Amino acid sequence: MDDNNMITDINTLRREKNAVILAHFYQRPEVQQIADFVGDSLQLSQQAAATGAAIIVFAGVHFMAETAKILSPAKKVLLPDLNAGCSLADSCPPEAFGAFIAAHPGHTVISYVNTSAEIKAMTDICCTSSNALKIVESLPVDEKIIFGPDRNLGNYIKSITGRAEMLVWDGACHVHEAFSVERLVALKKRLPGAKVVAHPECKKAVLLLADFIGSTAAVLHFTQHDAAAQYIVVTEPGVIFQMRKASPQKEFIPLPGVDASASALADDCGACNDCRFMKLITLEKIYRALQSEQPEVLVEETVRAKAEKAIRRMLALSK
Ligand code: 13P
Ligand code: SF4
Repeated sequence: MDDNNMITDINTLRREKNAVILAHFYQRPEVQQIADFVGDSLQLSQQAAATGAAIIVFAGVHFMAETAKILSPAKKVLLPDLNAGCSLADSCPPEAFGAFIAAHPGHTVISYVNTSAEIKAMTDICCTSSNALKIVESLPVDEKIIFGPDRNLGNYIKSITGRAEMLVWDGACHVHEAFSVERLVALKKRLPGAKVVAHPECKKAVLLLADFIGSTAAVLHFTQHDAAAQYIVVTEPGVIFQMRKASPQKEFIPLPGVDASASALADDCGACNDCRFMKLITLEKIYRALQSEQPEVLVEETVRAKAEKAIRRMLALSK
């Protein structure tokens, strides 16, 4: 089936089944194009909590679909490919994180949504890259905090808040860790007029070279409202689809990862630092998921109820 026929069938099925398709900014352009809503992790969790649809098809990764199920347990949540995991979520195994919490009593646990439902169930308040600063600042300055799992986001928040009592879990995302200072310096030299926008999951040395640091929604918003004509984008390149759509007159250059060939620096290398998990979702898999109502994401009820409290606290603080 070609893409046009696939899209016609997806549209028929989503109408018949009262389904909504939610997509993250890191999805393939053709997937973002057919989604009912495209957003960052926070916006997607807000949509999942608010939708009146009977079925949520999550064009994203497992922890996002799980978050939707935790917030809307009566709805059917489909993840078109169950292999769409997350290296950051995997860097925080529940047993080890539980032992870390037990070893540090009296701490408030803040966890990024990029975690499993089990981790969320051990968490006091969830956060995303959009609201991590606000969530941390909602607590008294001397509050003891455990922040997990992203060390780069955690240390970035720690540095701008000056919090002394903040323990940061040593996890990371393979995509954002793969951006190197050397490549960024070389690209800046070639494009001296370009501004650098970076996601806070990048390493500190990379963030120090950024003109703007923010979540995917925040970097998109910045490039829409800023006056520069050229941007070096230091996050997963899927977001560039929306940047080009919103600002067609501007130029967006993705920073290649460390593994890209040296010549990639000279190219508009749209695919060189893709999140391999995000890119597993295709139009065909969305069509099949809608047709078969599989694979479904389920969360055990006692875990779900505990995890929901942490997510709802985040949503209440994010209005
Ligand atoms: P945001 O959606 O909060 O920008 O996070 C990016 C990310 O890594 C999602 O997997
Ligand atoms: Fe996880 Fe990183 Fe992929 Fe986001 S980009 S889903 S944090 S592996």
